[in-house]
Amino acid sequence: MTDLSVKIGGVVFANPILTASGTFGSGEEFAGFVDLNKIGGIVTKAVSFAPRPGNPGPRIAETSCGILNSIGLANVGVERFVEEKLPFLRSLKTKVMVNIAGKTINEYAAVIKIIETAGGVDGYELNVSCPNVKEGGIAFGTDAETTARITKEARKVTDKCLIVKLTPNVTSIGQIALAAENAGADAISVINTLVGMAVDIHTKKPKLATITGGLSGPAVKPVALAKVFEVVNAVKIPVIGIGGIMNVDDVVEFLITGAAAVQIGTANFINPGITEKLVFELAKYCEKNQIQNINNLIGSINLNN
Ligand code: SIN
Repeated sequence: MTDLSVKIGGVVFANPILTASGTFGSGEEFAGFVDLNKIGGIVTKAVSFAPRPGNPGPRIAETSCGILNSIGLANVGVERFVEEKLPFLRSLKTKVMVNIAGKTINEYAAVIKIIETAGGVDGYELNVSCPNVKEGGIAFGTDAETTARITKEARKVTDKCLIVKLTPNVTSIGQIALAAENAGADAISVINTLVGMAVDIHTKKPKLATITGGLSGPAVKPVALAKVFEVVNAVKIPVIGIGGIMNVDDVVEFLITGAAAVQIGTANFINPGITEKLVFELAKYCEKNQIQNINNLIGSINLNN
């Protein structure tokens, strides 16, 4: 039996299969499809201080190799999150990371403070990378100094695992990751979506009401791998890979490239049971390849000619 556990920021995940924020609700929505205690961790949909209705529709458009979304960080706000979502999450054995969004630098820490008081989560993922909002999101995460300030403020209010989720829509993701690491981040997750657009040729209208949105799915996987590779080589803290993972071969590709864990996003919309299946298939892959400990696979990329 392979030891699939990975340690990130003091948290031991039973295996490296996590869910990607925004594709798995708050976990409860998927309880009928997945034994949630079998997966490594749940990363919730973003939680902001006040409730957010999100962007007007249409806010999802399918593309040939993925989907464009422009949800706009719709969520019930931190108070209702604590009352309505946290009790279920608390009942799970799997690790729970809450994705945090903010319109201002201070909002991230304010949201975390409220969840810290309520208790019952294992850590946080700072969303400084959403491409679908006018205030916050990508506007913060494209600037190393702002990313560092948000991380520093969040670090002041929690000792728990702090992940910073970065956007690929920058020139040097390594520099931004390094700024987050120096400001106290325990891990970096890459990538959030790539800015994209689609047009209906009959109506000549953009397919999304906001014109552009975030592209995810298999189309972005090579970009995601390149960004994981760049960040792995820029920082010392663990990197969590996200982007177009559809099967166990994709998981293994990210782990070999150096990701300590992965998050599964768009694939949940095609097969809501995919995360548990990937845990099973990763264990099978390791057994077949005589890998006793998953850490022996992580970062095992062969760069020799
Ligand atoms: C959204 O809510 O618009 C997507 C979330 C994200 O890209 O971070």
